[in-house]
Amino acid sequence: MTMQINSVQTQPIDGQKPGTSGLRKKTHVFQAPHFLENFIQSIWLGIGGAAGKTLVLGGDGRHFNAEAAQVVLRMAAAEGVARVIVGQNALLSTPAASNLIRKRKADGGIILSASHNPGGPDGDFGVKYNTANGGPAPESVTSTIYDATRTLSEYRIAVAQDVDLSVIGETRLGEMVVDVVDPVTDYAELMAELFDFDAMRAMIAGGFTLRFDAMHAITGPYAKAILEGTLGAPEGSVINAVPLPDFGGGHPDPNPIWAKPLVDEMMGPDAPDFGAASDGDGDRNMIVGRGIYVTPSDSLAAIAANATCAPAYAGGLKGVARSMPTSRALDRVAEKLGLPCYETPTGWKFFGNLLDDGRATLCGEESAGTGSDHVREKDGLWAVLMWLNILAKRQISVKALLEDHWASYGRNYYSRHDYEGVDAAAANALVDDLRAQLGDLPGTQAAGLTIESADDFAYDDPVDGSRSEGQGLRFGFTNGARLVLRLSGTGTEGATLRVYLEQLAEDYDRDPQEALADVIAAAEALAQIKSRTGRDAPDVIT
Ligand code: G1P
Ligand code: ZN
Repeated sequence: MTMQINSVQTQPIDGQKPGTSGLRKKTHVFQAPHFLENFIQSIWLGIGGAAGKTLVLGGDGRHFNAEAAQVVLRMAAAEGVARVIVGQNALLSTPAASNLIRKRKADGGIILSASHNPGGPDGDFGVKYNTANGGPAPESVTSTIYDATRTLSEYRIAVAQDVDLSVIGETRLGEMVVDVVDPVTDYAELMAELFDFDAMRAMIAGGFTLRFDAMHAITGPYAKAILEGTLGAPEGSVINAVPLPDFGGGHPDPNPIWAKPLVDEMMGPDAPDFGAASDGDGDRNMIVGRGIYVTPSDSLAAIAANATCAPAYAGGLKGVARSMPTSRALDRVAEKLGLPCYETPTGWKFFGNLLDDGRATLCGEESAGTGSDHVREKDGLWAVLMWLNILAKRQISVKALLEDHWASYGRNYYSRHDYEGVDAAAANALVDDLRAQLGDLPGTQAAGLTIESADDFAYDDPVDGSRSEGQGLRFGFTNGARLVLRLSGTGTEGATLRVYLEQLAEDYDRDPQEALADVIAAAEALAQIKSRTGRDAPDVIT
C-alpha cells in the first residue's frame, strides 16, 4: 500500500538556531504551526538527506514528547528513512540514545529533550540531533541545519495514523521499519560491562545505603532496574522514579537548589551513605555523601584519580578533558598521573573528537556533566555507578575519599553564580564592554587582586583543526584565583549570565563562598554586575 505524502508549503521561522545543546524553546513555541516540522526538515537537509538511513529516536518523556515523536516518524517515512529505532513509548535517556546509535550502527539520532529545563505546557521543549558517533552534532552540522531553517519553503510528511509505540518489536510506517525497543536493556548491559557489579552488590548487601532521586524524569526506570534490580539496593532507594510529563512540577536539574530535599536528607542525622540525582534526560549527575556535597568539578577530579577501580578503566586513562569554566582540580590529577588534559569550550559536543580520536577517556563539565568514551554524551547514571564502584573497591566513605583527595592535591574552591532572565541587551553590553577592555587589564587590580591574564577563550580543535571563538571571558589572578564570565546558550527567556569563580588553596575546610569572597568582589569590580543586571544577588548559586 502506498502511503500518501503531503508536501506542505512553509516559510522560514526565526530563532531556529541550535544552542549549546540543540534547539530549545518554550513548549508552546514548538507546538505552533510548522515550528517542529520546519526544524526536522532542516535536519534532513542539514545532514545531506535522510533517505535510506537508520536513525534512533527517543526523548525524556516531557510534555509534547509523544506527539513530537509521531511527527518525526511521519516526516522520516516521507523522506525515505529505512529504519527508526525508537525507545518504547518514545522514551530514551540521552546517554541511552547515544549508546543505541553506536551499538546499532545508526547514522544518527533525534533526541527530544530540553534537558534540565522544566517541562509542561508552560515549560520548555527541545530537539537535538546526534551524529553516527553517538554524540551531539558538531558546529559544522548545526550551522548547516540552521542555514536550512532560513531558506526552507516546504516540508514533507506522511499521512498516517500514529504508530503504536507501546509494543516492543518491529512494525512499518509505509516502507520504513519502526523498531520499538526497551529503553533500558542495552544501556544496562553496557553498564554491566564497565563496572564491577559484584563488588558493588557485596557493598550494598553489607549494609551500604543509598538514595537516588530521579526527579520524576527519565532515569527512574534505568535506576530502578540497575540500582534496585541488579545491585540489590532495597526498594525505595530510588525515589521520584516515575517519569512525568511535567516532572511533577519540579525543575529536573540535579543541584543543591533543585534537589534540595535530597541534599537536606544527606546532611541530616539519618542520612544514607550515598545520595545522587540526575536530570530531565539523564545526562547530568549530582553526588552527595553523608554530610558532604561533592561539586561536579571535584567529582570529575576524584573519578580521574580513582578510575582504575572500575574494570573498564583498569588499564588507565588515555587522557582527560574539561570544559573551560570547569575547575582545574582535574588538571592537578592529570599532572600527577602524567595524562594529557584538554580544555574545551562549554558543551559536550566539543569532547566528541577527543573521545573518537582516543585522546581522552574521561570528560566533564562543572554543570554536573561527567562521562567517558563508553558513549558520546555525558551520562548521569554512569557517574553514579562509577562512584559506587570506587567506594566499593576502596572501602571508604564519600567524605573520607574527598578529604583524602584534597589533602593530596589541594582544594580548588569553586562556585558558579547565575543571573537568570536578565535583559538580553544589558547582558550583551556587559560582556561586550568587558571584552573591549581585555587587552588593558593584565597588571591592573580588581578589588585588590592583581590580574595576571585576561582573554576571550578560543579553542582550536586538535583533531579536525576547527576554531571556535568567543567562548567566554577568562581572568587569571596572581594569587591563583580565576574568574570566567559567559552567557548561557541554553536559556529560553532573556539572557543568563554565568559567573564562574575559582580559588586554589592548600586548606580544604572553609565554606566555598567565603573562600571565594575576594574573587567575587573582583568580578563585581570588573563587570559591575549589580548595576548592569539590576540584581542584588545571583538567582542560583551552585
Ligand atoms: C549549560 C551548561 C553546559 C552544558 C549545557 C547542556 O549550557 O553550562 O556546561 O553543556 O548546559 O547541558 P549553557 O546554558 O551554560 O550554555
Ligand atoms: Zn541533560
